[in-house]
Amino acid sequence: MSQLEICILAAGLGKRMKSTAPKVMHAIAGRPMLAHLLDTAALLTPDRIHVVVGHGAEQVEAGFADQGLNFVHQPKQLGTGHAVMQALSHVNPDARLLILLGDAPLMTRATLARLTETDADLAVLTVELSDPAGYGRIIRDAGGKFRAIVEQRDATPEQQRVREINTGVMIASANGLARWLGDVGRDNDQGEYLLTDIVACAVAEAASVQAVLADDPVEVQGINTLAQLAALEREFQLRQAKRLMEAGVQMMDPGRFDLRGTLVAGTGCRIDVGCVFEGDCRIGNNVSVGPNCTLRDCRIEDGAEIRANTVIDGALVGPDCVVGPFARLRPGTELAREVGIGNFVEVKNATIGERTKASHLSYLGDANIGAGVNIGAGTITCNYDGVEKHQTTIADGVFVGSNTALVAPVMIGERSTIAAGSVITHTVPDQHLAVARGRQSNVANWKRPEKN
Ligand code: UD1
Ligand code: CA
Repeated sequence: MSQLEICILAAGLGKRMKSTAPKVMHAIAGRPMLAHLLDTAALLTPDRIHVVVGHGAEQVEAGFADQGLNFVHQPKQLGTGHAVMQALSHVNPDARLLILLGDAPLMTRATLARLTETDADLAVLTVELSDPAGYGRIIRDAGGKFRAIVEQRDATPEQQRVREINTGVMIASANGLARWLGDVGRDNDQGEYLLTDIVACAVAEAASVQAVLADDPVEVQGINTLAQLAALEREFQLRQAKRLMEAGVQMMDPGRFDLRGTLVAGTGCRIDVGCVFEGDCRIGNNVSVGPNCTLRDCRIEDGAEIRANTVIDGALVGPDCVVGPFARLRPGTELAREVGIGNFVEVKNATIGERTKASHLSYLGDANIGAGVNIGAGTITCNYDGVEKHQTTIADGVFVGSNTALVAPVMIGERSTIAAGSVITHTVPDQHLAVARGRQSNVANWKRPEKN
């Protein structure tokens, strides 16, 4: 078998996206379309991958540097045929070249393998769509033989009724492509060199031309508009949700679930509606995630309950913790087992020991908090002096009364008690009561001022 090289066409702006970003940088599930396609391309172990770039080339190249890709520049986008021509001078003439469109990101290895396995001189991946509008039509002769591709804009009304369309994915020898593209002109409605015209050229020289029909329209879908991008995103998400359900994760509504990264889940987990998972998330067994939570790069251990509207980023949540509703765990947070973090509590770069509770309205940043501590409502670790961050240490069994300011660096000893409303600026030794507030004085028979 001759060498395989892959060429991905990614030079277009994507006018129909009405966006300034190059089309292939638009994301599906949080990753650029091109990233999805490159993953799949790599699975075919090609000798080389060429990416034709033009619009926003710097952005595309920067996004995919150090991946061993050969970027080919197409400064003027004169059509898909012209794009392939730019790449051909970099391709080994004896190799077979698989052409992929950067705007059709969800191709699978299995489908592409069906193309690489044909022995036709030119094989084109096609699909049947209920609404073929906008795509190139597969034109067959009376005997059903594949003769040409005609673009929507150049198609007669009769041709427009054809529902089998060109996915844009093709394979042929580099030699053949060079020869056929040499015959392609730009006498069409868009005035471009259309890659699709090579079919008729190959047919004219009696080469063997084959249409390989894909069975899943979603997988081969090309994206030209933001509406198509959104629709494909939803399909992709639905598929991810189904895979998780098959693995035993209960989803309250797979249609309202978003995973932009990876989610590894144990058994008995339950995810309510409207949750977004990003990056690398791992949840243990019997974890429940309430509605409208955002979880990024985190680990949630067995039996933990994440309640509604909680945001977790870069945190570790220990077994049987209860977090939320409306809690925010920021990077560097580590909760031991059975910790309770309640509403409007923000935790950053802090370790919190077993069974400690911060149930309401607190900021715990740059802190090392022991086990069995009670953090009263309105407790603030004042970690920032305007220049540097400082550490607060709270030993086991401490009771921090409500509305306490702990001015860091500060250390609270074991089993100590802080009176509500205190501003703590010095070390509190073990088992002490610290009161750091003005004393209450009552004035008897006090008369309020009155209007005359
Ligand atoms: C193309 C096909 C059409 C097919 C459809 C499938 C052609 C002429 N038409 O149409 O038959 O049904 O895809 O989605 O091939 N590009 C370049 N340089 C250029 C022009 C385009 O790199 O000069 C890239 C684009 O960035 C894009 C891809 O090629 O990633 C396809 O171009 P696009 O303009 O989207 O083609 P379609 O009109 O969708
Ligand atoms: Ca397209």
